Parts: sequence; structure tokens; C-alpha cells
Amino acid sequence: MLVTGSSGLIGSEVCRHFHDLGWQVYGVDNNQRAVFFGEKGDTRWNQERLARELKNFIHIELDIRDREGVLKTVKDVAPDAVVHTAAQPSHDRAASIPFEDFDTNAVGTFNLLEATRRYSTSIPFVHMSTNKVYGDAPNLIPMKELETRWEYADERYKEGIPETFTIDQSKHSLFGASKVAADISVQEYGRYFDMPTCVLRGGCLTGPNHSGVELHGFLSYLVKCNLEGKEYTVFGYKGKQVRDNIHSYDVSRFIEEFIKAPRVAEVYNIGGGRQNTCSILEAFQLAEEFSGKKMVYKYSDQNRAGDHICYYSDLRKMKAHYPNWDITISLEETIRQIVESWKQRLPN
Ligand SMILES: NC(=O)c1ccc[n+]([C@@H]2O[C@H](COP(=O)([O-])OP(=O)(O)OC[C@H]3O[C@@H](n4cnc5c(N)ncnc54)[C@H](O)[C@@H]3O)[C@@H](O)[C@H]2O)c1
Repeated sequence: MLVTGSSGLIGSEVCRHFHDLGWQVYGVDNNQRAVFFGEKGDTRWNQERLARELKNFIHIELDIRDREGVLKTVKDVAPDAVVHTAAQPSHDRAASIPFEDFDTNAVGTFNLLEATRRYSTSIPFVHMSTNKVYGDAPNLIPMKELETRWEYADERYKEGIPETFTIDQSKHSLFGASKVAADISVQEYGRYFDMPTCVLRGGCLTGPNHSGVELHGFLSYLVKCNLEGKEYTVFGYKGKQVRDNIHSYDVSRFIEEFIKAPRVAEVYNIGGGRQNTCSILEAFQLAEEFSGKKMVYKYSDQNRAGDHICYYSDLRKMKAHYPNWDITISLEETIRQIVESWKQRLPN
């Protein structure tokens, strides 16, 4: 298996998961996260952990923007499956690094797709996309304000946002736009070349191995602030904005099911679903419960550009296509694990 972004949150979990299932795993990463977010986004610790703990893991230092390098790597590795998780992952960061964002997310994905097609059109190709491909169109759904969160007032979205939701004519951020280019390209390689490609449009993907920073990885960053007693800034929507959170293990489990029985050009919304939602205010409470420390925060009236007021994934298509898959890790357990992980990683 070839996993890109192997030192990141999802990539590292996928490497571990498939390694434990008996696969030989090749991980591609160049620690670009440290370039995007500075030393706090550094993922070398995770790369070293994989190299130390997984005996059938080989790290490949490669930038996915390097087209010749990607073509050669896919040919040399000759994988039975490709899982593509490398990305510039931040909505907000993209505007200040537009070329790096587009070259990584759109062109990097294209390099991998074409390299895979030239090697084999029959191996599964799983791509991590994002709910930001829907732009801010979910904000047009009527909402009701509850004490600590926003909720959809339209019954049609009671179970969340389905894959049929429009991706057109709304504000995406440059990140959302580069991810749309990748998302559509992955679908197209499926439809046009009959390749078993899969697009996973993530809600909030999280877990203990996230190097959360202010601009990406909200739960991980929120818990880190809580433990360090550092002030967290809430951007708009009264702190009642809702996210669905899925543990990286449950993401890997879905990828396992897809690779066992691949389909062509599929798209799924992958998140924690309704059961694993929380608002920022509710996340504060949970972090406080597990850490025993009071959350320090300030409120800024200005919401992030194009940010969702309420977003959670409708998981019914995933469950219908892959009945062996379900969410197995609750939001509470995920937060507990994030607290434990930061306690070990932060200096005392
Ligand atoms: N974490 C989330 O909440 C979330 C939500 C929706 C979608 N996603 C998507 O899931 C995927 C994985 O996200 P994550 O949270 O694991 O991100 P992450 O930043 O933790 O991991 C991404 C990894 O890719 C590497 N990388 C970046 N650019 C690279 C390049 N040019 N060449 C080689 N490696 C490069 C980084 O160094 C990093 O280790 C991304 O596509 C992201 O857009 C994540």
C-alpha cells in the first residue's frame, strides 16, 4: 500500500491500521505541515514513531508536487492500493499561500492519479476530500438557535448533509476550491477510466495523533490550549458552531471496508455524524471534564470566512454500501484520548 501524508493524522493512522492487517506499507511525506504551520505543525515525531513501531513500514521522503518523483515512486512501489491523505489542510491558511495550496491539493492529487493510472487501473485509490467542497452553502439551510449550539431547522437535514448537496456557487475559500479540483479529478479518473476511486469528504477528522494548530485541527488545538492554560479564540457564531467529529481509527476502518470491496467513482461524506457532534462551547465543557482545567478563551465577533455554522455528515450512504462499518469511538472517548496524548507530548 502506498499512503501519502503518512506522517499526518489520517495518514499515520492508515499506515498503522493496514500494517496491523498484514500489509507492507510505504509512506510518502516531506513534513510539509511544518512549512505550512511552522514548528508547531511539525510531524517528524509521528514519522519517527511509525519507523520505530512498524516493522513493515518504509518512509519515502517525497513532495507530491514533484511530478517525475511521483510517477517513479508509484511505478517502483507497485502498490495494491493507494490512500492519498497528503494535503495543505487549512481553510484559512490557503489565502496566504495560494500557489502552495493549489499545487499540493489539486496538482499533487492529479500527479498521483495519473501515476496510478499508468501503473494500474484496477487498484483502489482512496482520496481524502473535505466538507469544504460544499462551500458555505450549508449556511443557507434555516437554523434554529439552541442554548449551546445551532441546529438545522429543516427536517430534510435531520440526519445531516448528504453527498447530493450542491458544491456549486458558494464561497469555498481557496482551500475549498483546490480540494474541489482534486475531488472532481478523483471522480473523473473513476468514471472515465473505470478505476475504483473513492472520495471521502471529511467533517472534522481527529484523534490523538493530530499536531493541532490554530488554523487546523480544532479539537486537538482546543485541548492543547486547555492543558497549557493558553487563551483560545472563538471566531463568531457565538461559539455555537457545530462540527461532527470522527476518530481517525474509524476513518481507517472505512478505508479498509472500501479496499475489501471497491466501487467505481464513489463519494462519501465521512464524519462523526449526528451522534458525534459538538459546538465549540460544548467542546470546552468536555475538555474541562477530562483535563480538570478551566478553559480560557476570548470571543471575536468575526467568523472565519466561509465557515460553516452547523455541519454534520449524513452517514447513511456509507452504512448502506458498507454495512460492516459504523462509528465505534464516541466523541467523549476521542477527547479523552486527545487529552492523554497532549499530556505526554507537551513539556511539563
Ligand atoms: N483533519 C481534519 O479535520 C480534516 C477534515 C476534512 C478533510 N481532511 C483531509 O484529510 C486529509 C488528511 O488530513 P490530516 O488532518 O491528516 O492532515 P495533516 O496535516 O495532519 O497530514 C497531512 C500530511 O501531508 C503532508 N504533506 C503536505 N503536503 C505535502 C506534499 N506536498 N508532499 C508530501 N507530503 C505532504 C504533511 O507533512 C502532513 O504530514 C487531507 O486531505 C485533509 O484535507 C482533514
